[in-house]
Amino acid sequence: MIQTPYYLIDKAGLLRNLEKIAYVRERSGAKALLALKCFATWCVFDFMRDYMDGTTSSSLNEVRLGQERFGKETHAYSVAYADYEIDEVISHADKIIFNSISQLERFADRSAGIVRGLRLNPQISSSGFDLADPARPFSRLGEWDVEKVAGVMDRVSGFMIHNNCENADFALFDRMLGDIEQKFGALLQRAEWVSLGGGIHFTGEDYPLDRFADRLKAFSQTHGVQVYLEPGEATVTHSTTLETTVLDTLFNGKNLAVVDASIEAHMLDLLIYRESARVRPNEGPHRYMVCGKSCLAGDIFGEFDFPEALNIGDRVSIQDAAGYTMVKKNWFNGVKMPAIAVKELDGAITPVREFTYLDYEQSLS
Ligand SMILES: Cc1ncc(COP(=O)(O)O)c(C=O)c1O
Repeated sequence: MIQTPYYLIDKAGLLRNLEKIAYVRERSGAKALLALKCFATWCVFDFMRDYMDGTTSSSLNEVRLGQERFGKETHAYSVAYADYEIDEVISHADKIIFNSISQLERFADRSAGIVRGLRLNPQISSSGFDLADPARPFSRLGEWDVEKVAGVMDRVSGFMIHNNCENADFALFDRMLGDIEQKFGALLQRAEWVSLGGGIHFTGEDYPLDRFADRLKAFSQTHGVQVYLEPGEATVTHSTTLETTVLDTLFNGKNLAVVDASIEAHMLDLLIYRESARVRPNEGPHRYMVCGKSCLAGDIFGEFDFPEALNIGDRVSIQDAAGYTMVKKNWFNGVKMPAIAVKELDGAITPVREFTYLDYEQSLS
């Protein structure tokens, strides 16, 4: 028995997504790079490697992790690189994608020996959250002026365009890609490769995979480009739980259950976007507000229905705890950091990593 709290990565769940990714690669010719910003838990990279083409990154640390732990093709991207890190970034990458023309120009000499790209911002998005909308007004994420970009085409051979956000609607993806072709058609004709970023939920149930793959292939053929995808959430969705134990129960007008983890420290993305966590099956006559153990008043995973009354010592499994969780975990309140364990394909559970007081102490000084 592993002591809770721990993240439990289920390889069977991962495999369901990876097989869909491999199918899309095969049918469309697109390459798929894992977006490390979403999931960088490298203990399962050996398992994932055969289904994907490599990784993409948002910092020096990520590009290095991608190259050293995943291997294959490694893309470097960052909103802005510092002078002191650019050489090391390049030493770990196969391609570097600059966020702005000014960064491209600043590092033109030092990046002359590597394939270079530029991020484009089509100023259209699928997102209802302005916090996560790359096309929000005054966005710093990518260049949008076709003439300006045309002026640096001698320095770049491709583009990255990330404008989808949790988009599970193929028709919307298709329409937005059409808009991008309209807006940037002249640039695309001069490019050798285009990364369409992440944010496309194509591994979800009922997503029309064949139509998606065929659309990517048509895009690739029309513009004569190698297409890349950068799936983060789509790679790991429904693969992982956060296993917690009830430490206390209270009644305060509602039934409350306090567990040995924290939404603020261990699933921060939910808190930022004000979304509820999920439990399964979330059915039964006993409704509880499941709360985290940090001192934040709003450290609440959500309200869920349970078949039996919750008691101290009961297990609560928080669903879908892979994407944007472990990459964002923090030591708020010094709350015990969840361990990491893997459920193998035969059902055996392997503990992979435990975090101790020393990890907490060494995260500060
Ligand atoms: C440039 C880029 N690529 C890929 C991703 C991964 O997106 P997702 O995890 O939604 O697939 C992101 C997410 O913000 C991104 O900004």
